[in-house]
Amino acid sequence: MDNFLISIKDLNKTYSEQKSFLAPKKEAQHVLKGINLDIEKAQIVSLVGESGCGKSTLANCILKLITPESGKIYFEGKNILEFNKKETFEYRKNIQMIFQNPYSSLNPKMKIKEILQEPLIIHKEDKQEEKIKEIISLVGLSEDDLKKYPHEFSGGQRQRIAIARALVLKPKFIVADEPVSALDVSICASIINLLLELREKLNLTILFISHDLNLVRYLSDKVAVMNKGEIVEFSNTDELFSNPKDEYTKYLLSSIREIKIG
Ligand SMILES: Nc1ncnc2c1ncn2[C@@H]1O[C@H](COP(=O)(O)OP(=O)(O)OP(=O)(O)O)[C@@H](O)[C@H]1O
Ligand SMILES: [Mg+2]
Repeated sequence: MDNFLISIKDLNKTYSEQKSFLAPKKEAQHVLKGINLDIEKAQIVSLVGESGCGKSTLANCILKLITPESGKIYFEGKNILEFNKKETFEYRKNIQMIFQNPYSSLNPKMKIKEILQEPLIIHKEDKQEEKIKEIISLVGLSEDDLKKYPHEFSGGQRQRIAIARALVLKPKFIVADEPVSALDVSICASIINLLLELREKLNLTILFISHDLNLVRYLSDKVAVMNKGEIVEFSNTDELFSNPKDEYTKYLLSSIREIKIG
């Protein structure tokens, strides 16, 4: 297990409650069915599969935002589901999230400097000014930008700010759930290249969730294919795209090829 930053063993999650007040009452739904997944240090692993198959649910379990019924999630060899409050607090520093929508994920009333400083304050970090300046330049923005508010930036720049906020505590692991699907294609490419650059510079490990299989192919070291709460195939990217083994993987790949031709 030592090579793995994250190692998930036989994870099960069931939703029993209805999703929202207005939604009709539903039967208990088994959303994650015995998930196993190992993520090596400094790798980018993508998670793909149809809408509703359980990708975000898995991400939320890793982030400790929801609790699975059974299974284990090891981070650096320790089961996060057994962490006490102090250990969970430390864990949260090492594991950060980049959200889909850079318009709603930044507080409009806070200046960029305050947005970046907030996690540093929560974790009582030293050298806050220095860390903020370092991270803003790493994501390709300037120190002048620190005085501005989110509305003064474009979508792509806001996503850079969201990435800076996620990275300011120097986490080891990033979960990016559809981080570019709200952006224009040209901006999307620059954000993806930024993530690749940051992975090199900061030795980051990334779980990337996306519906865009072309992007997944370009970016990932390995790809996990999920179907109805199960991981049906987990292979190196080149292998998965050139020689898919599982029927569902073949189906997913054929659907993008058709769209590209059309
Ligand atoms: N809080 C919740 N309560 C009840 N059911 C939920 C909850 N969150 C998700 N679900 C259900 O669990 C299933 C998996 O949802 P999830 O959000 O993990 O899918 P996903 O693969 O991320 O989909 P998408 O690609 O659309 O983001 C869906 O059927 C969804 O309706
Ligand atoms: Mg999702």
